[in-house]
Amino acid sequence: MEDKVQLIYDSKTYEFPLVKGTENEIAIDIKSLRAETGLITLDPGFKNSGSCKSEITFLDGEKGILRYRGYSIEDLANKSSFLEVIYLLIFGELPTPEQLSKIEDEIREESLVDEDLKAILKSFPKGAHPMGILSSLTSALIAFNPSSVDINSEAEFHKAIIMILAKLPVLVSWTQRRVKGLPLIYSDDSLSYTENIAQMMFKKPNKEYSSNPTIVNALNKLLILHADHEQNCSTSTVRIVGSSHAGLFASISAGISALWGPLHGGANQAVIEMLEQIKMDGGDTKKFMAKAKDKNDPFRLMGFGHRVYKNFDPRAKIIKVTADEVLKELGVNDPILDIAKALELEALKDPYFVERKLYPNVDFYSGIIYRALGIPTEMFTVMFAMGRLPGWIAQWKEMRLNKEPIGRPRQVYTGQTSREL
Ligand code: ACO
Repeated sequence: MEDKVQLIYDSKTYEFPLVKGTENEIAIDIKSLRAETGLITLDPGFKNSGSCKSEITFLDGEKGILRYRGYSIEDLANKSSFLEVIYLLIFGELPTPEQLSKIEDEIREESLVDEDLKAILKSFPKGAHPMGILSSLTSALIAFNPSSVDINSEAEFHKAIIMILAKLPVLVSWTQRRVKGLPLIYSDDSLSYTENIAQMMFKKPNKEYSSNPTIVNALNKLLILHADHEQNCSTSTVRIVGSSHAGLFASISAGISALWGPLHGGANQAVIEMLEQIKMDGGDTKKFMAKAKDKNDPFRLMGFGHRVYKNFDPRAKIIKVTADEVLKELGVNDPILDIAKALELEALKDPYFVERKLYPNVDFYSGIIYRALGIPTEMFTVMFAMGRLPGWIAQWKEMRLNKEPIGRPRQVYTGQTSREL
């Protein structure tokens, strides 16, 4: 392989080094481009630009491959717990049984949140979107834990990570319990990390809680599948906010806001709303396929297409099987699943979708599972946020430890040139 590329500009030839990743991706290192040539690159949406080197997640969108720290998403979803995957992403290796039990104990120690946060939660109007609430509560955590992280202190860094891992699920459960009008509760020290998430979300005040393996297994899978996805919109947000040396909680809160949009994490809510709309309209999937293809109609088939997967999203394959299992085991008969399957079948053979390589993404089936578990539709993106938390933490940690410079893109100015007032 060549180890550099040449750029000819204004009759001069410049050379820029090539960088090769461990999976053979090749990038042109243009760090000195502006200094040497006076030029910058223009790449709206960063479709061709790498913002960092990273050791955390590998994905090959053409082949439909996703790996965390080298382990395939299929293996992790089938053989690991969410907490093991959290450990893997943040600390680089799967935990030994001792390491797992140590981190579980550390999380238990930090799993209370200041009771005054309840006043902030209650000050939101009933109809407030849970993503706005979660982002605000995460931000408010800073006020109750004001010391910023000194990244040169491993102990301080570790404590901030444990605190957010322990407290965010409590905030997620409070957000859901507020939507459902249920009393706000805390975790139970006798339960595992994922069992506790289920307990805090679903426990009824008048009933003893008993852990349901179908629910815990489905949550484990969903959270693992969402745990990281390299430099997507919310992760890039977390890294760029953190690059100004803003704290971990502030950066995560910004990531939650970025995830909210319907083109990113908000798609899981949008998928169910779309399927409901098709059902209410009489269930004619062909009519909605035609709308999705009509360039004069803003309607898009939500849950289809992906910036990097130009093949099946490997997470969608796992989730589709899990959706079938969960609905069967919980005895739920959801007509929306049939509409989803019909849409998928039609899209997979439709030339418009085939030519543009538009396949179902992770969000196409996740909402069907959340619905079967009794999670309100507007909470779906909050579930995604809880799953993505370890990815955001791992990426933030890597960015700070690599001492990356502040994120500050340039622009090509196209406005008025200098004029008199
Ligand atoms: N329905 C209909 N047409 C679509 C869809 C869709 N869901 N997605 C893309 N297209 C079409 C576009 O209109 C465009 O057509 P054209 O070439 O004729 O102009 C072509 O496919 C390429 O689409 P882009 O929007 O340029 O692709 P991009 O990579 O920028 O966008 C995105 C990817 C945002 C995910 C897009 O596919 C989309 O809007 N999908 C629906 C929303 C969704 O499911 N988002 C979740 C993503 S996964 C996640 O965040 C976890």
